[in-house]
Amino acid sequence: MINVLFVCLGNICRSPMAEALFRDLVKKEKLEDQISVDSAATSSWHIGSPPHNGTLAILKKYNISSEGLTGRQLTKDDFEKFDYIIGMDESNTKNIASITGQPKHPKIIRLLDLTDHYKDVPDPYYTGDFQETYDLVSEGCQALLRKIRKEHGL
Ligand code: 4NP
Repeated sequence: MINVLFVCLGNICRSPMAEALFRDLVKKEKLEDQISVDSAATSSWHIGSPPHNGTLAILKKYNISSEGLTGRQLTKDDFEKFDYIIGMDESNTKNIASITGQPKHPKIIRLLDLTDHYKDVPDPYYTGDFQETYDLVSEGCQALLRKIRKEHGL
């Protein structure tokens, strides 16, 4: 199994959106037996919480299931368990490196570095623009799946 983990600050806006979107993509491409998906926060602020209403609404708009999305915090052990640890912004990737004790490891990647954007995914918790975030996360997820297919011959 190839294990993919999306990480953001709160695990209620961007990373659960990415988890749901990527799982949907994996299912549509019939790769669910090969790829598993999860998400986590660098903070402890929203442990056990459902996603933000803005994330739930945009997933519903695109008919993507938000089942099973519950806030949890990243742990040091996640580094061993996951093959791709995808941060939404640079601050996330720095915090992932610090929590896991793995500075500059190639499996820790900022999502939009897999696209032509090379920038942070804007945080809709502050911008209020869940559509902009959805569009970028969707682009990033497609790029991630291409990378995984290539690296694993899928
Ligand atoms: P996220 O957004 O990292 O995309 O889940 C945030 C969620 C909550 C907070 C900040 C950002 N907060 O300050 O509680």
